[in-house]
Amino acid sequence: MAAAKSRPEGEAVRVIFLGPPGAGKGTQAARLAAHLGVPRISTGEMLREAIAKDTPLGRKANPLMGKGRLVPDDLLLALIGERTSEDDCQGGFVFDGFPRTLPQAHGLERMPGGAAQGFVVFDFEVPRPELMRRLSGRRWCPKCQATYHLTNNPPKQAGICDVCGSRLEQRDDDTEAVIERRLREYDERTFPLIEYYRGRARLVPIDGNRAPDAVFQDLLSAVEVRA
Ligand code: AP5
Ligand code: MG
Ligand code: ZN
Repeated sequence: MAAAKSRPEGEAVRVIFLGPPGAGKGTQAARLAAHLGVPRISTGEMLREAIAKDTPLGRKANPLMGKGRLVPDDLLLALIGERTSEDDCQGGFVFDGFPRTLPQAHGLERMPGGAAQGFVVFDFEVPRPELMRRLSGRRWCPKCQATYHLTNNPPKQAGICDVCGSRLEQRDDDTEAVIERRLREYDERTFPLIEYYRGRARLVPIDGNRAPDAVFQDLLSAVEVRA
């Protein structure tokens, strides 16, 4: 069983994180990517960066993200196509927040190295009240995008980023009304991807309602290299 789950040495590792807002995708994707030595590709972060720099993409994404709505598929597919063709993605990557709709999953299939059977897909499950607690207590560094939580994962000094010393903020979309809308978008447009990847990729359900270390152990055992 354990051997069937592991991957051959030298093979590129490509990972998708599925799960509702607040499930811990960003927290775990950062850790897994660092462990594997591959880039983490967070579409949410890339879009927030585009907004901060006021690029044409950022100007299109800003009003949608502020309302908790998904950004159009064609923009995401262009962004991902460009990012995954960079040299650092040759050994694999960890997608955090992509694909998020069926058209995005279909578009990914058409990219080099994008076939579903080459992916490990983690499906994070966390109860709704816990998602709310996590998102309402989340704090975020607008400079380096490090993520904290007031009680679950506080910075060493209250309100200050451990990594770069900037003042922490609340994300614009972490208000109750916008969180509700993000959850609805997840239910309607992202949840169907679980069925899509069942049988096409290696779909691994993850109980995300546990301590971060316990969650991470499950991720590691699913991507470990065969001895
Ligand atoms: P994105 O930035 O991807 O947001 P999201 O999916 O809503 O997910 P979050 O980042 O809110 O949650 P997370 O699962 O990463 O949780 P985290 O680890 O931070 O997308 C934002 C927006 O961009 C979208 O709404 C959309 O508009 C647009 N967008 C992005 N990608 C797109 C796409 N592909 N297509 C179209 N539009 C797209 O954890 C949450 C909190 O909980 C933190 O405070 C953390 O410290 C804490 N925590 C984490 N793990 C645990 C644990 N195990 N126990 C207790 N607390 C924990
Ligand atoms: Mg995130
Ligand atoms: Zn920072």
